[in-house]
Amino acid sequence: MARRPTTVPLIVANWKMQLGMADSHQRLAELKVKLKTLHGRYKIVVCPTALALPGAKKLLRGSPIQLGAQNVSWDDRGALTGETSPLSLVETGVEYVIIGHSERRHLLGETDEMVGRKVVSALAHGLAPIICVGETAHERNDNRHELVVGRQLTAALRTAPPPTINHHITIAYEPVWAIGTGEPASSAEATAMLDVITQLLINRYGLEIVERNFRLLYGGSVAPENVGQYVRAGAFHGALVGGASLEANSLTGLISNITKNFNA
Ligand code: PGA
Repeated sequence: MARRPTTVPLIVANWKMQLGMADSHQRLAELKVKLKTLHGRYKIVVCPTALALPGAKKLLRGSPIQLGAQNVSWDDRGALTGETSPLSLVETGVEYVIIGHSERRHLLGETDEMVGRKVVSALAHGLAPIICVGETAHERNDNRHELVVGRQLTAALRTAPPPTINHHITIAYEPVWAIGTGEPASSAEATAMLDVITQLLINRYGLEIVERNFRLLYGGSVAPENVGQYVRAGAFHGALVGGASLEANSLTGLISNITKNFNA
């Protein structure tokens, strides 16, 4: 099975709706200072609440921290009350966008088809999509986890154009049962799904494009103590982190463990 090419690990911090604007800015300022003392090469993307994005952009000037949004609309403008246009995200200086997070799929009714349209929209505007896929506990117990993830992935990319050199697409495998539960997938479970996802991508695009354009992350109860197992031995490219990304100390601990284990 083909595995990731040599690159640097990617850590995506998903702050969900956990912090308000002032708190988001204060944590980012803290993180910016703390990261100055951190050695090793890595890429860090923080996704705060949408209203905190413009202030965050100003605050992060001169910092390696990149900004991500937690959602994007499939249209540039129109009668879509409450949605955020990709144009506004680009105007704000956002570079990444999480699409199809399980909370949006399961709590807010986002469908495979909507996810696919959002991916097209993000790519058209130069936003790097972070596409989330993952099965529920019930689906895994029924032994349908590979089918479900395969269906989600295929639908997410169905209408997307073939990736060009400028497209950066991240796939985050996040089993729903592992999110926010303190029960992460074992490294065997996670790498088995990594192989399924990688093979599907290779079948569709070929190895060269997969190695050039795609990064694969694990997400679901990732913590500084357990992150190493997912990136060791050429497995995942990094992690999508919720709870453990909210405190600067825990996030820097996580980054430092990822960089230590990434090439091990
Ligand atoms: P968690 O969340 O790290 O708190 O499990 C991950 C996510 O929902 O992206």
